[in-house]
Amino acid sequence: MEYITISHIYNWKKIKKKFAAITAYDFSFAKIFCNQGVPVLLVGDSLGMTIQGHDSTLPVKVKDIIYHTKCVRKGAPNSFLIADLPFMSYYEINQTLKNAAKIIQSGANMIKIEGGKWLIETIKELSMRSILVCGHMGLTPQNIHYLSGYKVQGKQKKEANQLINEALLLEEAGIKMLVLECIPSLLAKKITEKLSIPVIGIGAGVYTDGQILVMQDLLGITEGKTPRFVKNFLFNSGSVQNAIKKYINEVENSIYPNEKNSF
Ligand code: KIV
Repeated sequence: MEYITISHIYNWKKIKKKFAAITAYDFSFAKIFCNQGVPVLLVGDSLGMTIQGHDSTLPVKVKDIIYHTKCVRKGAPNSFLIADLPFMSYYEINQTLKNAAKIIQSGANMIKIEGGKWLIETIKELSMRSILVCGHMGLTPQNIHYLSGYKVQGKQKKEANQLINEALLLEEAGIKMLVLECIPSLLAKKITEKLSIPVIGIGAGVYTDGQILVMQDLLGITEGKTPRFVKNFLFNSGSVQNAIKKYINEVENSIYPNEKNSF
């Protein structure tokens, strides 16, 4: 796979080519993902749960993201690499800029932050300094206590309209990509159509420009009950490499997610 840039991803939106993304946290899996042609990887703060064993993403520190970003970049030199700014690492502008700079210097192409219109100034400040920013709306795990659990967001009309309006405001402020997590499929469709930036869904139905899954979910190694949008691609695939090929193929051809995986 050639080195993927933001321009490639914008072009895929333009020509309506769906793309696959996966979370990655270490060298070995990142190498497999990159070698199989996964164009977009995310060092998500989900590592707080999948790697560190916490019950939320809240304990994750900037230094954790930096460490895992360095590991992933070594394994995946050509994937477009997004990394999360973790909980409370972007509430104050100087701190935000310093933290984002450290993460970019560790190998990320873009940083991701969770929230709506309260992020407008932050996005402008980062963008002015040529730091690519990805938004994250809908179910935002850093707000888990405020949201009272991992629930589908945007089901009521008022809440849905607010998500649409705030997504437009974030685009105007300068985000270059948006993750939509756990919202109704038709709401995700509307937002994806209204925005000119690429939109990646997780539990947001088939209509977004790209899809992302947590790697442990995709490989069926998450113990216990998984949400309905999760699919085990390793089942009957024979190898991790084949599972990744299958995931890419199903995303690119709009086979995954289907109605059963959507809200
Ligand atoms: O942290 C993460 O893994 C994420 C994905 C769920 C999009 O933000």
